This record gives sequence, C-alpha cells and structure tokens, in this order.
Amino acid sequence: MTVGSAAIGLAFAGIVIGIGLAAEKTIWDHVYSQAQADRGKVLYTQKCAACHLESLGGTNTASPLVGDDFIEMWADKTIRNLYTRIRTTMPDDDPGSLTEEETVDIIAYVMAKNGCPAGDAELEPSAQSLAGIKLSRRGTR
Ligand code: HEC
Repeated sequence: MTVGSAAIGLAFAGIVIGIGLAAEKTIWDHVYSQAQADRGKVLYTQKCAACHLESLGGTNTASPLVGDDFIEMWADKTIRNLYTRIRTTMPDDDPGSLTEEETVDIIAYVMAKNGCPAGDAELEPSAQSLAGIKLSRRGTR
C-alpha cells in the first residue's frame, strides 16, 4: 500500500465515522440557535402563518407543524427530508420561493415551537449536516 492510498483509506474511514456520528443527532440535541429561531419567526409569520396559523396548529387543509402528531408524522425521517419538503412545496401558493437560509431559519422556529432546546450553533443549510439530524420523538434516539 502506498502512502497515497493509505491516506485515501484514512480519509474514507474518517468520512464513514463522521457520517456515523452525525446520524446519532436528533432535534433534541440543541441543533439551532435562538437568534436563528427569532429570524424564522418573522419569516414564518409572513410566509406560512396564513395557512398554518400563528400557533402552527394548522387547519383542516394545512397540516399542523407543531405537536405530537407532527413529530409522529416525521418520526425517524431527518431534517433534510423536512427541508426538502418545505423548500420544494411550500409556501403552497409560491413554492420554491424560499432561500436555503430562510428555509433553515423557519425550521429552527418550528423546532423551537415544538419545544426542542436551542444551542450555540445555527442549523446550517448543508445537505450532509441536515441528513444527520433525526426528527425523533422526545426522549428517543
Ligand atoms: C397557501 C397556504 C399555505 C402556505 C402559505 C403554506 N403552506 Fe404548508 N401546507 C399547506 C397545505 C394545504 C399543506 C398540506 C397539503 C400539502 O401537502 O400540500 C401543507 C403542508 C405542509 C407541510 C407538510 C406537513 C406534514 O407533516 O406533512 C409542511 C412541513 C409545511 N406545509 C410547511 C410550510 C411552511 C414552512 C410554510 C411557510 C414557508 C408553509 N408551509 C406555507 C398550505 C400552505
């Protein structure tokens, strides 16, 4: 084995370990910051509340974005799945209009309203990091 291929092997092992560790995270692991959720609240009020309501409680047509039923609906999927759903289909009257940053800011607000704790770091709009955060029920992994 050459030094070069050993280095590639090590780098690959590092990526595999990195993905393994990343997948351990859930929405209960302080994955967004309070400042980000505050920005998300402003955006949510402008772009989502008309249908999903200020409370996030939803209506007969627009699904709730808060509460056990919401988390249950997404349980064991990742924030990346939720991100893609919002980015490609919402707002229902103007899909595709949110930027990457706006989408993660709104998700931070949705998490805050679901009682998930804030942390120091912001939720980043990177496919890899979003895929490493599971939407699990409180207290489960
Ligand atoms: C014009 C009304 C309208 C607006 C504005 C709107 N939505 Fe929706 N949303 C809906 C409807 C209706 C559904 C359910 C039907 C569907 O899947 O399209 C839905 C479904 C969803 C879902 C899927 C929920 C689930 O558990 O399956 C998410 C997440 C969501 N919306 C997020 C958002 C966000 C975030 C915004 C603001 C950026 C937003 N929506 C703005 C009408 C709207």
